[in-house]
Order: sequence, then structure tokens, then C-alpha cells
Amino acid sequence: MKDVSVGICGLGTVGGGTFNVLTRNAALIAGRAGCNIRITRVASRRNRDDLDFGDVPFSTEIFDVVNDPAVDVVVELIGGYETARELVLAAIRNGKHVVTANKALVAVHGNEIFAAAENAGVVVAYEAGVAGGIPVMKAIREGLAANRIDWIAGIINGTGNYILTEMRAGRAFAEVLKEAQELGYAEADPTFDVEGIDAAHKLTILASAGFGVPLQFEKAFTEGISSITPYDIAHAEQLGYRIKHLGIARRRDEGIELRVHPTLVPQSHLIAQVDGVLNAVLVDGDAVGQTMYYGPGAGDEATASAVIADIVDVARIVASGSTLRVPHLGFAPDALENLDVLSMEDIQSAYYLRITALDRPGVLAKIASILSEHGINIESIMQKESEVQDGRIPVIILTHTVQERQINRAIEELESLSDTDGPVVRIRAENFN
Ligand code: HSE
Repeated sequence: MKDVSVGICGLGTVGGGTFNVLTRNAALIAGRAGCNIRITRVASRRNRDDLDFGDVPFSTEIFDVVNDPAVDVVVELIGGYETARELVLAAIRNGKHVVTANKALVAVHGNEIFAAAENAGVVVAYEAGVAGGIPVMKAIREGLAANRIDWIAGIINGTGNYILTEMRAGRAFAEVLKEAQELGYAEADPTFDVEGIDAAHKLTILASAGFGVPLQFEKAFTEGISSITPYDIAHAEQLGYRIKHLGIARRRDEGIELRVHPTLVPQSHLIAQVDGVLNAVLVDGDAVGQTMYYGPGAGDEATASAVIADIVDVARIVASGSTLRVPHLGFAPDALENLDVLSMEDIQSAYYLRITALDRPGVLAKIASILSEHGINIESIMQKESEVQDGRIPVIILTHTVQERQINRAIEELESLSDTDGPVVRIRAENFN
């Protein structure tokens, strides 16, 4: 059996997990790969005297790995944008294949990196960057190759899902976030998790591979979960919905929707049952119908599972000398379509609205009339006399699907009524059809 040499840059949660699983399951992985995968170098920018790498040389200079002629595959697990970009481009220039778990890097610099890799005849594999241990990129790029994919929606940030799950049980946001950080789920900057940036990185990649469009992270819309209150969580539940932080990408004739925001999902849908650090991605293909990919979205060995699957793919290429490649985004580069990202005013969604109304006759009729004037159909409405406080009562409305532009205009009018008080709370809702 041939040997394929792997160098790992970055020895944090995922790097440590990758080292451990590759070492522990070496014989099994060699059997699957058809070659021996040997870790011949590891590097981390900070000293890791606390870890045991056996005979494998350790360096604090990550570029040593990229410049080592003996290394066939560079595994980039340092995270972040700029140094990672330089490292990966240097590896490509040196003719090395790259495996990365860095979704930020792929979402922001992927177009440049993939073009460089294609010119150099090497592969940049990134399964672990999207939904942790779930092999969803493989499913989209290969398993669903027959399908026109119309939409993708998913819980693609484990930290955010962990927080929302625990909040449903009555725990406070800050306390749960701290716990998720201690468990190694959160990004170095946890605002990436709670504000939807990490999910937008992943959604950008999913959408590009699903629809065959270039990566356009800068145009993705993000709204975080920090403003979600236990009140809205409880009232969504009473309406038969659960609040999840979803990434939603939809292909329409005029462009693509690319958005991450809190979303009401029907409790009866499987995705509503996805709790804790688990992720799930729904992919709708014209031939196969709706499919769901479910599993751990973060964590050391769960993410290492995806990193190693990519290492195995690349090692087979190295060992066999094959020139066959699955294109980086699943489509031949010249088949990518330049579909633009639609503005949020042009997206279509259902909405949960919470309006604080003055508790007096005729208010409900005025609210209903404004919604009707904007062509907004009401699916359900909830108002409870027991919730009256200081003469004010929350009116909760669930709408049918409309254009966001219509909701925006209606909210402006609702807020300007003398019978309402303060801003209208608006959370998008999705029925997956
Ligand atoms: N911070 C990320 C999450 C890690 O919580 O999902 C996995 O990408």
C-alpha cells in the first residue's frame, strides 16, 4: 500500500480531534482509502506542550507544513480569513491538495481559491466547514447530481441551536452561550454564531453548490437570535410552531434568496425536533423531493469525521494518480450561472407579527384592515385578555406567504397607528413547500 503524507496546521478543537481519530482508526481508514494516511507534520501558532503527537514533528511555524516537499495534503484548521487564505494559496502554489474546515475562508475567498486550485490541478476539500460531521456537501455535489435543487434550508449553527433549545427550557441566553463556548462549539468570536454570520458562511456554500452559482457571501442577509424573547418562543409554540435559527436559500427565476434569521417552523416538521448542538439541512430536489441530512454540527471528533472523509477522498487521488475531480462547487466552473442575490424586500415568506395594541374597541379591525390593504392574508390571530397590562394587549398574527416588501409597508402603517404602542415584532415563518 502506498503512503500519503498529511500535514495538519491548527491544533485546536478540530485539529486535536482529527489527530486522534486518524491515529486511533488508522488501519480502518487505510482499508477504506486503499493507502496509508500518515500524519508527518503538525503545526500550531501557539505551543502545544499539553498535547502528545508521538513521533510526529511539531512546529509553531504553520508555513513549515506548506513548504515541506514531503507533505501531499495540507489540512488547514487554523480558522479565520487572511492567514488561512495565504496558507491555502501557498499550499496550492506548491502543488499540494488542501482539506479545510474553514467555512469563513471558503465563503469569502472560495471563488479565488477554487480558481487557483483548478489551475494547479489540485483539490481544496471543505466538507467539514458545513454542518460539522454531516456529509451534506457530498450529498449535494454527488448524491443529488441528477436534481435541479430549488431550495435548501437548515439549522447550520450548533451553538445557536443549543442556545434556542435551552431557552425553550427556561434558561437565560448568556448562561447557555457560556456553556456552549466551554463545550468547544462556539466560534472564536461567538457573535459569529449568535448573529448568523457563521450560518451565512455555510449557507453561501450550500447555495452555490446546490444552485450552481458563484459564492456571494457579501450579499447574504443575517439576523441573529439575541433579540428572541422567551415570550415569543412560548407564543410560537401555542400557535404550533417552534423558533429555529435557519439559513434559507431559494432559487427563483429572477435570482436567489440567501438569508439567515430566526424562523418559525411547524412543530410537526422533522426539523422542529432538531435540538441542542445538532444540525439538519433540508434539500429539495425536483427528482428526489425533500431530503434531510441530520447530525452533529460541531464538536471535535464529529467535525474530524468530515475532515478525514475529505482526506480519504484526496488520498485516493494522490495514491492512484487520478486526474478525475469532483468540481469544487459540484458544477464545471464554466457551467456556473451568474444569478444575483435578491434584496430582502423581494423575498417571499410567511410572518409572525406581535403588535402591542391599546385595549379598546375597534383596534383589531384596524389592524386587520391594514393587513388586508397590503394584500396580506391572515392564517391565525391570537389575543388573550389575561395578557392585558397597563391598558395594552399583545396581538399575535401569523400570515400566509407574501413578499417582504408588503410586510414592511404594513408594519410602517401599523406602527404609526395611534392605537398601537412601540415597534412591531416580526419573525419570519417557513412551511417548507
Ligand atoms: N461554531 C460552529 C457551530 C462550529 O456552532 O455550529 C461548527 O461550524
